[in-house]
Amino acid sequence: MADGDAARWDAKYEGRPLPVVEPTAALQRVIRWLPARGGALDVAGGDGAQAVWMAQRGLDVALCDVSAVALRRAQALATRAGVDLQTHRLDLETDPLPAGRRAVVSCSNYLQPSLWPNAFERLEAGGVAIWIHPTITNLERNAKPSRRWLLEPGQGRRIFEEAGLMVVHAEESWVGARHLCVLVGRRDG
Ligand SMILES: C[S@@+](CC[C@H](N)C(=O)[O-])C[C@H]1O[C@@H](n2cnc3c(N)ncnc32)[C@H](O)[C@@H]1O
Repeated sequence: MADGDAARWDAKYEGRPLPVVEPTAALQRVIRWLPARGGALDVAGGDGAQAVWMAQRGLDVALCDVSAVALRRAQALATRAGVDLQTHRLDLETDPLPAGRRAVVSCSNYLQPSLWPNAFERLEAGGVAIWIHPTITNLERNAKPSRRWLLEPGQGRRIFEEAGLMVVHAEESWVGARHLCVLVGRRDG
């Protein structure tokens, strides 16, 4: 990533109140696909709202992100919630994902399509990938994120299918104020 990007994210997270631990409206739509136990990896998981929520549900969760401040806050959130959380500081543009296969790999609001197939490789057989990201339709009501950070129609599903995942949930719709692509794919082999 460009020099200064990690610092920019650190500055965004610094000083904010800790997030509320609850599933987003988009995540609520796919809760039924979340296994009750096993390992989970939340990619670019930020300050941990989704990761800590998954840990509260009984998963053994790791979160990776480039922002040291976000990771510190995620640990504080996990401590406050009384759950364990592993954190890994890494640059997803250059560093490998944490080793090991997991029952869940998730990613919300971080767009790096080249990363998806590598992330899916971290799924054990029967494991599920859960991806949530705004599409270009989001620009009809929101100026940000700008177009380069948005999914084209059908793009997310295509990447899942080309990587060999069985798509079990795919929607592109307004979820509250944002137009989101919400995908769940299962690795069968
Ligand atoms: C919009 S936030 C999303 C955070 C969280 N997934 C959520 O939905 O609340 C994007 C996250 O990506 C992280 N990030 C940006 N570039 C990254 C990179 N190259 N490697 C790892 N993390 C990165 C940022 O630090 C930030 O936490």
